[in-house]
Amino acid sequence: MALALRARGASLLGFTSRSAAGRAEADSWLGGRASSDLAELVLLQPELYLVAVPDQALPEVAEPLGAAFAAAPPTVAGDAARPVVAHTSGATSVSVLSSCQRAGATTLVFHPLQTFSDPLTGSSRFAGAAVAVTPVQAASDSPAAAFGFALAQLLGARPFLLPDDKRSLYHAAATVACNYLVTLEHHADRLFTLSGLPREESLSLFLPLVRATLDNVAAQGTVAALTGPLSRGDTATIAGHLAALATDTPDLLVLYRALGHSTLDLVRARGELPPAAISELAEILGPRDRPAGAQRGRPGE
Ligand SMILES: NC(=O)c1ccc[n+]([C@@H]2O[C@H](COP(=O)([O-])OP(=O)(O)OC[C@H]3O[C@@H](n4cnc5c(N)ncnc54)[C@H](OP(=O)(O)O)[C@@H]3O)[C@@H](O)[C@H]2O)c1
Repeated sequence: MALALRARGASLLGFTSRSAAGRAEADSWLGGRASSDLAELVLLQPELYLVAVPDQALPEVAEPLGAAFAAAPPTVAGDAARPVVAHTSGATSVSVLSSCQRAGATTLVFHPLQTFSDPLTGSSRFAGAAVAVTPVQAASDSPAAAFGFALAQLLGARPFLLPDDKRSLYHAAATVACNYLVTLEHHADRLFTLSGLPREESLSLFLPLVRATLDNVAAQGTVAALTGPLSRGDTATIAGHLAALATDTPDLLVLYRALGHSTLDLVRARGELPPAAISELAEILGPRDRPAGAQRGRPGE
């Protein structure tokens, strides 16, 4: 994000990381402004502090940062130059920054709804991405929200306001949309390879299918984009899949069955197959697993 902001005209006054190795690595992209000390960064009086560390590490960075603000000269800690502190975690409440807020900072969450697997390609991925902004006060006209929206717009991103109490649900959605898609493609790769596609080429052979599927979802929405044997009511084909998986990859049967039942929800929503055909497909898929602790029937049933 520092690289992306710099490309849009912002100045990077300094950065730090937990380890010397991390600082050296960041130094190789950002160049020469590494600091080993948060207090040293506070003395530079930047307009924005961006805390981009794993969720569990947020308290151990936010607390000393708040302490550094409290110990800083009045021009830093006072109202005249209120610094902004933002963290980038999708799941963590803005309240993790409360020590900074108490010391006079404006605080917010700035979560890019995007995936960054390496800094150099990542810096170009803000343009067009959504950014969830959560200020301490939910009002869209609060200074923190206004800052978050302006920052997103500077990056060419699309900001929206996310309520703090919906962060976990929102982040679960992001996990399903992004991480679980990667897991599905991993298992698809394994199945394709077992079925005879050359290992080195398997991904490149089936990725056009994945990309076209995403294009269809983008153009038509999820329900209309569904194709395949469940949408057509091909019971014998599904039975064949289950038999093949039972032989070659029995560990994937639970996943296949669970996704099959979830896909039948879309088939129902399409309204094209008669209910009896959908019931037959559900029967072939086997019992639909319920979440642990879910009630399986009323008492006495
Ligand atoms: N990656 C994504 O696609 C993505 C997307 C949206 C939002 N985010 C959010 O961005 C944040 C960072 O994610 P990431 O994937 O960039 O994480 P990461 O690569 O695992 O870590 C980023 C930095 O955190 C530092 N760090 C780790 N533990 C620390 C600690 N205890 N104290 C101080 N610094 C520590 C690391 O320093 P060292 O290298 O020195 O150990 C590293 O420089 C998270 O809140 C995440 O939710 C990530």
